Amino acid sequence: MTRTSEILPRIDDCDCTPSVQHLFRRHYLLQSPMYYIRWLYAVLYSLYLLFVLRAPTDTDIVGYIENTTMAMLIRPATDGKSGEYEVTVYDCKLCASGGHKLKNMSLRYKTGKNGVQVLRFTRNGVEVSDRSQIFSTIYFYHIHSMHTKSHLFSNSLVRHIVDNDVKALQESSYTSIPLHYVLLHSSLSVLEWDGNMSRYFRYGGACIRESVVEESRNMSAMEGHQAVHSWKSHGKDSFAGKLLRSRLALQVVVERHGIAPKLLDPLFNHTIVHSVDHHGSSEWSRVRFSLHPWDKDCSTYQAFNTSVFRVLITQPNLNPLAPNTLRSINKPFYQDLYRELKNIDPQMAGVVTASVMY
Ligand SMILES: *[C@@H]1O[C@H](CO)[C@@H](O)[C@H](O)[C@H]1NC(C)=O
Ligand SMILES: *[C@@H]1O[C@H](CO)[C@@H](O)[C@H](O)[C@H]1NC(C)=O
Ligand SMILES: *[C@@H]1O[C@H](CO)[C@@H](O)[C@H](O)[C@H]1NC(C)=O
Ligand SMILES: *[C@@H]1O[C@H](CO)[C@@H](O)[C@H](O)[C@H]1NC(C)=O
Ligand SMILES: *[C@@H]1O[C@H](CO)[C@@H](O)[C@H](O)[C@H]1NC(C)=O
Ligand SMILES: *[C@@H]1O[C@H](CO)[C@@H](O)[C@H](O)[C@H]1NC(C)=O
Repeated sequence: MTRTSEILPRIDDCDCTPSVQHLFRRHYLLQSPMYYIRWLYAVLYSLYLLFVLRAPTDTDIVGYIENTTMAMLIRPATDGKSGEYEVTVYDCKLCASGGHKLKNMSLRYKTGKNGVQVLRFTRNGVEVSDRSQIFSTIYFYHIHSMHTKSHLFSNSLVRHIVDNDVKALQESSYTSIPLHYVLLHSSLSVLEWDGNMSRYFRYGGACIRESVVEESRNMSAMEGHQAVHSWKSHGKDSFAGKLLRSRLALQVVVERHGIAPKLLDPLFNHTIVHSVDHHGSSEWSRVRFSLHPWDKDCSTYQAFNTSVFRVLITQPNLNPLAPNTLRSINKPFYQDLYRELKNIDPQMAGVVTASVMY
């Protein structure tokens, strides 16, 4: 058996082994310069954002959840009250700087004619009512746990494509492994390492690198949380509904092009889920909150810090000369998938990339 016989969720399998050296070269040449350009843009844009940022409302909190992969955690309230929903995380391993641990959290909210209302939010069993802290906690969990799950299969999938020379999927091998390598091992990473920040730009989030890897080992938060559930409670045009329809579209295209069925779910995460999740998350760029979920308030400097991080990390960052979006790749598999996705949502189809690029 070769290592590529199964596609496994392994975020830390990102070393530059001989067969993927060309992908590291391509990444350093085409994708990594974007980080420096983006850094300048992030600083300037964040200065502008300081004038338009506003405190998060209940609508922002629920909107964020409903339009990102957090939607997969939405359940109708356990006591069956109609129009009331819960999002509960039981056993989280994420740590923030300053010795803070996010062990669990639970949000209960109501939707109805009068808009949405957050009824209750608890973190580590303690009720939190400050909307900025709620938003910050959800953002923290989303990007470091839920969103990271869309990255998990990528290393293994890329190694499979390279080792088996799957020509139809060549564009899906770009950047992902080097990106994970930089995030987990380089001093340029935006994640804290032993509580240390990037040596160069000193930007970065509040989450500790080791805890991201530990949290990523447990996929059980996804079990039974298939998009089907949210599709039923939110309808076919919700984020979750569109994800489910995209998966069906991908399944048809994978069959049509004779791609091994075992690549379906990893490809789904690697292409569609990953990019539309970034896109959904970056819609809330005007919300003012501190990146550290335990910060009591959000100073101007913290708001700026948050914006820089969000522009750098959450907003899609592609080299315009080599964007690797489906629409830009003139090859049968990607064009076919792009056409199918356009029927579901043209805007969504436009942002989908062939691999985890940012
Ligand atoms: C959440 O974490 C707190 C603190 O560790 C604990 O006391 C509480 O029982 C936990 N709640 C759930 C639902 O697991
Ligand atoms: C983090 O910073 C401390 C103090 O500056 C240093 O001793 C330690 O080696 C650093 N850790 C890492 C992993 O770079
Ligand atoms: C940005 O915020 C994070 C989280 O609070 C913090 O760890 C980091 O040091 C801040 N960055 C700068 C440059 O102050
Ligand atoms: C994984 O997470 C689930 C809850 O999401 C928890 O019940 C289980 O104990 C965790 N498993 C490990 C090995 O930590
Ligand atoms: C977020 O999702 C909800 C419900 O699915 C939708 O009504 C709303 O328009 C979305 N908001 C944005 C900004 O996309
Ligand atoms: C990733 O794929 C797995 C199955 O391979 C699936 O259970 C999971 O829901 C996917 N992750 C996301 C974030 O959609």
